[in-house]
Amino acid sequence: MVWAKTCSHAPFNLANSGLAGYSLADLPVRIEDLEINGPSYYGYEPLQKAIAEKCGVTTDCVVAANGASMGNFLALTATLEPGDEVLIEHPTYELLVDAAQYVGAEVKRFPRRPADDFRIDTRDVELAVTPRTRLIVLTNLHNPSSAMVDETTLRTIGAIARQAQARVLVGEIYLDALFEDAPASAFHLGSEFIITSSLTKVYGLSGLRCGWILAEPELARRIWRLNDLIANIPAHPAERLSCIALENLDLIRRRARALLDTNHALFNGFLAERDDLDAPIFGSGTISFPRLKTGNAERLCGLLREKYETSVVPGKFFGMPDHIRIGLGCETEVFAEGIQRLGKALNDLSR
Ligand SMILES: Cc1ncc(COP(=O)(O)O)c(C=O)c1O
Repeated sequence: MVWAKTCSHAPFNLANSGLAGYSLADLPVRIEDLEINGPSYYGYEPLQKAIAEKCGVTTDCVVAANGASMGNFLALTATLEPGDEVLIEHPTYELLVDAAQYVGAEVKRFPRRPADDFRIDTRDVELAVTPRTRLIVLTNLHNPSSAMVDETTLRTIGAIARQAQARVLVGEIYLDALFEDAPASAFHLGSEFIITSSLTKVYGLSGLRCGWILAEPELARRIWRLNDLIANIPAHPAERLSCIALENLDLIRRRARALLDTNHALFNGFLAERDDLDAPIFGSGTISFPRLKTGNAERLCGLLREKYETSVVPGKFFGMPDHIRIGLGCETEVFAEGIQRLGKALNDLSR
């Protein structure tokens, strides 16, 4: 996160996993729609309703959170005690591991293998679970590869968790990048599932911090009480803006879809020309995680930054140092130039 905040910025920034920022000017907002203070205690009712409606759940299952970041932290702290075992996919979004360690949980990992296009083999989960496992953690779509976890796999993981009296935390922040093909949230598969998500990535609305947790009502109440210790009352203008964003989600989604469709096509053209990158043809999502077949990914990232003013995320942040993570959500002109520069850096590296 320190690297992302202080080192990832570049004129051609392909390090971001989300869509280019959606502008306030493109939302139908009037000043009278905003207010500084409002009735937000255990949720602001209009926002609770809007999130519940979007996710197809009842409001007592929704805990609003300051982005999926706070959602993840609250979900992990509400379900784990020091010494509990937590089973987390590898590779994954680093902060899920860091937050679980901060809680004092013992972190075990199960692999998502590049050779298997980062699919989850449920036998790995079954093998790693023990009677001390309290939580199984995964992302869908997967950060860093965008691989989708299908319903059968999720159901099997739910059954493994139930058997161990554990729960399953699924980070679904990228799931809406499947647009009309997006399956329903894993929340609907059973009460052992806890979901975190936000409007940050697919909608380019990071600054709203509109995140949420979906959990069965008793756990949701516990999480609200935990939130009293940490975030307590949210910024009300952001809640009002989040309601407006959710009312206009179709509009925001159309822009995201058009941008990603264009960038996916460019990226697949780029991949087809590169025999030094190992990545499946890109189908959906906002990020890709190719492996460098030759050369050193760390050197590539340095060269890209210094000579080509372009940034991608080094795979070392995911414990896979021969990979790089490329974000496809930036403006098309930036993306097109960024991958061209990536190509030049790869050529330099092979000389
Ligand atoms: C899996 C996952 N969860 C949460 C976040 C953070 O989301 P937010 O900006 O909504 O806090 C990220 C950001 O990269 C992520 O990849």
